[in-house]
Amino acid sequence: MRRSLVYSLLVAVVAGDASELVGTWSSKSNQVFTGPGFYDPIDELLIEPALPGISYSFTEDGWFEEATYQVSGNPRDPTCPKASLIFQHGTYELLDNGTLILNPIEVDGRQLFSDPCSDNGISTYTRYNQTETFKSWEMGVDPYHGIYRLQLYQFDGSPLPPLYLAYKPPMMLPTETLNPTDSSNAKATASSDDTSKNVNLKKRSVREHVRRSLENRYKTNAVKQTNSVLNSNFFWYVSAALVGTGSIIFLTT
Ligand SMILES: *[C@@H]1O[C@H](CO)[C@@H](O)[C@H](O)[C@H]1NC(C)=O
Ligand SMILES: *[C@@H]1O[C@H](CO)[C@@H](O)[C@H](O)[C@H]1NC(C)=O
Repeated sequence: MRRSLVYSLLVAVVAGDASELVGTWSSKSNQVFTGPGFYDPIDELLIEPALPGISYSFTEDGWFEEATYQVSGNPRDPTCPKASLIFQHGTYELLDNGTLILNPIEVDGRQLFSDPCSDNGISTYTRYNQTETFKSWEMGVDPYHGIYRLQLYQFDGSPLPPLYLAYKPPMMLPTETLNPTDSSNAKATASSDDTSKNVNLKKRSVREHVRRSLENRYKTNAVKQTNSVLNSNFFWYVSAALVGTGSIIFLTT
């Protein structure tokens, strides 16, 4: 009886209500966040985080932003990992059956890919435009970390790594097309000497008035979530209930 109460508190999962998605979510490394710290659209700069990870942000009014930093090891040569940084943003749709569709702004997505042992030190910087469909998702309180957790399931049903709430309101770039002028030629290269730090792609500079208007909107109202639930009475209550459950399990086994 008591056990099932605890269970339902921890797995109080809501799917289908967009307001549950609102915020900036980050995978366990807690190093990758959407927003101006990952992608600078004015200088065309993707900024490499300290550790790999993924981050998604959602607004109440239907916008999303995505930042991923993935490194895949080369088992035969650990000094040759491939790395990819991806930025996308756009709008999302939440279907009645719980399916979540992310529709990126085509001209704004960017990917920086480096394969240091076969690209002669030249990372590839390209546009990136990939619609993403998540079959379903769940939001609830993580029983170990005591913070809000978002679980996204890919189209084939396989889960993404769990994401934890990092900022609410979310930390995001302006929710509008960032590169309205440039239509095609978005290819550039960068020396991989630069990839350990910030990768400056030395692209054409965007017009000054765009810069100014964007700068004004970098001022964000994002609020960092530090174990928000841990500090609340709710978590104390769940802990107390868990201790109770633990005792019950202990006594009956
Ligand atoms: C972006 O992706 C969408 C959906 O896959 C596709 O219809 C569109 O043509 C793509 N645009 C570009 C510029 O690649
Ligand atoms: C929800 O509906 C969409 C569109 O009809 C479909 O593609 C998707 O597979 C459905 N999702 C689930 C979980 O049934």
